[in-house]
Amino acid sequence: MSKKIAIFASGSGSNAEKIIEYFEKNETIEVVVIVCNKKNAGVLERAKRLGVPTFMINQGNFLESDETVNYLQNLNADLIVLAGFLWKVPNNLIEAFRGKIVNIHPALLPAYGGKGMYGHHVHDAVIANKEERSGITIHFVDEVYDNGEIIFQVACPVNADDTPDSLASRIHMLEHSYFPEVIAGVLEDQS
Ligand code: GRF
Repeated sequence: MSKKIAIFASGSGSNAEKIIEYFEKNETIEVVVIVCNKKNAGVLERAKRLGVPTFMINQGNFLESDETVNYLQNLNADLIVLAGFLWKVPNNLIEAFRGKIVNIHPALLPAYGGKGMYGHHVHDAVIANKEERSGITIHFVDEVYDNGEIIFQVACPVNADDTPDSLASRIHMLEHSYFPEVIAGVLEDQS
């Protein structure tokens, strides 16, 4: 039976698209759903184009009920991948999928992580502190923001003339080239 990935995304979904494309021809791993909390998120358009079903969540059913947990358990999801998902994952979901939720963070954790450190806030802070390098971190998710066991990191330089946008695009390129492979590795380790 093939391994099933559920991707959670709130935004543009460029990582989600790379992950879907990477596993498209894989006979043992498939992306079965995109879970999304934002009605007009770019990821919904991508999901439609790529033929991947979507499941919409709202504060009520996600944070205050077992609806999402039940949905993912019925799907037999093996791995939840947070790819630009901006809500904190509630404890019922973490307990039900312990060790089976991974997140990507656009900096070298534990630096530049925690509440409020997302999107351009991360790159703004890295540049304001005149860091010479930043990068990406892929980690398991536990009850604390950006705290779970680190699976993979890779660094890139921060140039003197970088803007948050130029740094973000360098980091996006790293994410696109490493995230799918790292996910494949996590699924392999599970079997
Ligand atoms: C990525 O930079 C990721 O690290 C962060 O959110 C961004 C999502 O980008 N958590 P996209 O929606 O996949 O383009």
